[in-house]
Order: sequence, then C-alpha cells, then structure tokens
Amino acid sequence: MSASKVTVAELVAAARKARRAAQAHFSKFKVGAALETEDGQIITGCNIENATYGLTMCAERVAMFKALSEGHRRFRRVVVVADTQAPTPPCGPCRQILWEYAGDVEVVMANLKRETGRHRLSDLLPLPFDARLLKKK
Ligand code: THU
Repeated sequence: MSASKVTVAELVAAARKARRAAQAHFSKFKVGAALETEDGQIITGCNIENATYGLTMCAERVAMFKALSEGHRRFRRVVVVADTQAPTPPCGPCRQILWEYAGDVEVVMANLKRETGRHRLSDLLPLPFDARLLKKK
C-alpha cells in the first residue's frame, strides 16, 4: 500500500466536524467518525439515535455504510471523536463491521482538543469471526 495522502490531523478535523451533525437527542453523547479510503478520500459519519433507542447507529457504522454505498472498498484508517477525556473506542458491533469491511486498519481516537489513543483494529478485536471461517469445512 502506498503512503497516506491525508494526515491524521485532517481526519480528526473531519470527524470533529461530522460530530456536529450527530443526532444524539437521548444520550447527548455526540460522536463523529472519519474513514480514510485507500485512495485518500475522507468519508465521515455521526451517531444517529432514535426514540426507540435500539435503532441507534454509531458514527463509525454510519461512515462505513456511507463509504460502502458510494463504492469504496479499501480503507487505511478510522478516526473516532467524542467530547471525553478518556478515549472513546468503537463498540463491539462497530469493531465487527470495521473488521469485515476495512480489515486491520489503524483506529485513532481523539477528543475536541487532542488525540487520546491509537490502536490496530486486530488489538481491539482479537480472534475475530469473519467470512474466511464460513468457507472452512
Ligand atoms: N457511539 C458511537 O457513535 N460510537 C462509539 O464509538 C461509541 C458510542 C454512540 C452510540 C450512541 O448514540 C451514543 O454514542 C451513546 O452510546
């Protein structure tokens, strides 16, 4: 894979901007995400809540579903931004979706002022279940 065309700072800025559109009326916990595609495009998402609560969609999955629906298939990194001192890592379902569609990407966490953490997705989701296992007899 060739060198990145966008910086982490640009991705963090995009995720912070996306976070402003969050529909977090119930939790008040606004999240923004930014995916970097292999060819250097930035696809963002924010969390979208719902009055039945259970239909809530996290920022990371909104970003990934947007990206997939626009034809993107290869990714380098994902940035997650929340207004917290501690890192806000992707939830379990988001880790699964990110793993299946983005592979072992770098996951960068940030708040409104600074970066709060950086991990490989494989460290956040050890021993994943994925399509390779469906083919094994
Ligand atoms: N949320 C995200 O969007 N991403 C995360 O990584 C953690 C949680 C959202 C879901 C819900 O709308 C709110 O944050 C509180 O859980």
